[in-house]
Amino acid sequence: MKETSPLIVGILHIHKVITRGLTTSLSKCDEYLSKQGITQGETEGFSLYLKTLMGILHAHHLSEDEIAFPYFKTKVKAPFDQLEDDHRKMAQLLINLEKCLLDLPQDGIHNLSDVLTTLNKIWGPHIKIEEENFTGEKLLAVAGFKEQLEITKSLTAHGMKNSGPGPLTVPFLFYNLEGSDREAFMMNFPWIVKKVLVPFVWRGRWKPMSKFFI
Ligand SMILES: [Fe+2]
Ligand SMILES: [Fe+2]
Repeated sequence: MKETSPLIVGILHIHKVITRGLTTSLSKCDEYLSKQGITQGETEGFSLYLKTLMGILHAHHLSEDEIAFPYFKTKVKAPFDQLEDDHRKMAQLLINLEKCLLDLPQDGIHNLSDVLTTLNKIWGPHIKIEEENFTGEKLLAVAGFKEQLEITKSLTAHGMKNSGPGPLTVPFLFYNLEGSDREAFMMNFPWIVKKVLVPFVWRGRWKPMSKFFI
């Protein structure tokens, strides 16, 4: 069945972006380890990709902690305590990840790979719980379509404010989604962002990460 809750559509897109970001980073770590390291030239792009991913992940959890969870806590039954606890664990791992990035290109890959593996092991089951507990059907029963659009708007604004610079985060979101997901996600952005800012004005900023995009 096609998802009709705007709030869920938005959350599923962000989950896909982060999942793809983690998977790509992990497979890149494997590749660098098998080659005995990462080249100086690729370090800049890989660090930027990881920093942007970390910013988006952090902002996503903050939006859930500060907007979505408080709103739905009294309306929908879900293991909120566990979800919030997962967020705290992942926030600590993001601090460790930042430290690993300081050690690139020489020594950081092993530790980076370990931290990413731990993070990914929490992330997978975490979004599974969210996606099973916050379904379109459940949410539409407690918040109408219009109301959900309003919540989605505040989640987006909140996310954009906390995730890092738009010239990096917006292309990261676009190009870690594929096919119809990318198309649907991009529909929410103004023409000038899609046709002018991302492909031309901001290109120099995000280009080092393009190797890791779809
Ligand atoms: Fe979450
Ligand atoms: Fe989430």
